[in-house]
Amino acid sequence: MEERKDTLILGIETSCDETAAAVVKNGREILSNVISSQIDTHTLYGGVVPEIASRKHIERINQVVREALAQSGTELCGLSAIGVTYGPGLVGPLLVGVSFAKALSFASGVKLVGVHHIEGHIAANYIEDPNLEPPFLCLVVSGGHTHLVNVRDYGEYEILGRTMDDAAGEAFDKVARAIGLGYPGGPKIDVAAKAGNPEAVHFPRAKVAENAYDFSFSGLKSAVLNYLNSCQMKGEEYNQADVAASFQAAVVDVLTEHSIRAVRETGAKTFALAGGVASNSALRESLEKACAGLGVRFCVPQPVLCTDNGAMIAAAAYFELQKGAESGLDLNAIPNLKLGER
Ligand code: KG4
Ligand code: ZN
Repeated sequence: MEERKDTLILGIETSCDETAAAVVKNGREILSNVISSQIDTHTLYGGVVPEIASRKHIERINQVVREALAQSGTELCGLSAIGVTYGPGLVGPLLVGVSFAKALSFASGVKLVGVHHIEGHIAANYIEDPNLEPPFLCLVVSGGHTHLVNVRDYGEYEILGRTMDDAAGEAFDKVARAIGLGYPGGPKIDVAAKAGNPEAVHFPRAKVAENAYDFSFSGLKSAVLNYLNSCQMKGEEYNQADVAASFQAAVVDVLTEHSIRAVRETGAKTFALAGGVASNSALRESLEKACAGLGVRFCVPQPVLCTDNGAMIAAAAYFELQKGAESGLDLNAIPNLKLGER
């Protein structure tokens, strides 16, 4: 019997502030996963500065890709494809990854596969749980996106709900800045909240009238700012841990409630969580508990696969490649690329 050849894919991710590359076998097994974070640089400015991010990607991408190949014990010519994030994201940072991947593909003759960033986040679950197969529901919560997605098949998505304004991660980052925790806000609120009382301040749980699956976080952010202002006007000190815990509880409640409603109404048997905010301990706990209560299988990637990384891009590229998707050297960065579009 002929032995099936392994499919090795190099995944490259530069859509925001992580320069990342990884080699993944057969879409499920990580051989290397190198992430060079720019957090220290952007902390100085309180958020990601796109021009600086682009420059840092240029400085680091060569080394990061070399390391990913070396750690995996793979030569460029042993790859079946090079997957690269081409959107959505910051245009300058995206262009660095796309140009690099195109040059590498042109020089080596290895196929090129453009990957949607959110598709990558969802695919992180295929690595975490080698038995996971569509269909399943997935809540994607990151710094730029909040999507409740019905994953009908590999690469086939139906968006049930999305945010009408701020993304969940964006709300975490803005509130963290307002209460003096700084950047990056999500992980800092997660830690601070552990020492706080989630019922200390009641913040609103917004509902969007038109579509029960849609989200809105800008009202919650304003409510936190109003609360901080009113404390200041009254000359009262606010409790940072209590505000962090109360804000986090409001976000987690809304995300859990929408997700559970979607599980009930679609009859989904499996629910997955993805994106940077999927690292949040309270959110993981709440969704895990809710899914257990409904007898639904719950999947969530380990934290290193929740934040931006190359392995998730390689995994998504694998399933695209299985369907015959291949990009030409005219692949371009598309900052506002929609899920499901190619
Ligand atoms: O997916 P990601 O790495 O980048 C984007 O695609 O946007 O997500 C980054 C976002 C940031 O807003 C960050 O504050 C948030 O994920 N985040 C968290 C946690 N870790 C990262 N939010 C809440 N709790 C965390 N533990
Ligand atoms: Zn991301």
